[in-house]
Amino acid sequence: MSIPPAVYRERHLLPSILSADFCRLDDEVGLVMDAGVRIIHVDVMDGHFVPNITVGPVVVEAIAPLVHARGGWLSVHLMIERPEAYIEVFAKAGADALSLHVEACPHLYHAVEAIKALGVGAGVALNPGTDVVRVRDVAPYVDYFLVMTVDPGFGGQKMIARALTKVPVLRGMLPENAGIELDGGVNRENIRQVVEAGADWVVAGSALFGASDPRSEAQILRGLMTAPGDV
Ligand code: DX5
Ligand code: ZN
Repeated sequence: MSIPPAVYRERHLLPSILSADFCRLDDEVGLVMDAGVRIIHVDVMDGHFVPNITVGPVVVEAIAPLVHARGGWLSVHLMIERPEAYIEVFAKAGADALSLHVEACPHLYHAVEAIKALGVGAGVALNPGTDVVRVRDVAPYVDYFLVMTVDPGFGGQKMIARALTKVPVLRGMLPENAGIELDGGVNRENIRQVVEAGADWVVAGSALFGASDPRSEAQILRGLMTAPGDV
């Protein structure tokens, strides 16, 4: 399902299923969507680009119908080597937005065009230690940037707050309707800071699915994202 262009600039909380209970993934997704969530974040890791191994297209294919039936979308985050070789398989599995890392993909322009040609939102992700200059030239072509605020590989890490300073810089490079997704170490204590830095889509994994009641935690985090006084 195509994501309407305006959604990239809307403020959304994206639960990362990396920290969910995989034995009851449909319930976990249902819980957070009941709390008003519209976009689910899926972390794909290959044991090469990052040390961890997680899920692949089979899991995307399993949850896509649940998410789509509720009027939602899947944002798939590829933390893998040679991501361009897997664009089509993830698009066919049901990804609605697909991001790949600048550090893993030397042919970014080609990869972004390949994602968009399949009707999928194209995102380029960058690690906390990667200079924004690396993605400047591809900025006019992307639907979103994904700013990592931890080095990718594991949930539950502490946010590297300095990486937030990239958000306004990247915003200045992007077309008006392209968005910024932010990922890593987001919790109740820092989510306002993340929103005030200018992120549109905010990923939360352990803070959300690690809570005793993920549905009410999603409501709390969403509430903090839209606190009174926002324009
Ligand atoms: C990290 C992943 C994140 C992770 C977020 O490599 O890309 O999406 O699941 O988890 P928390 O919110 O626990 O940092
Ligand atoms: Zn992620």
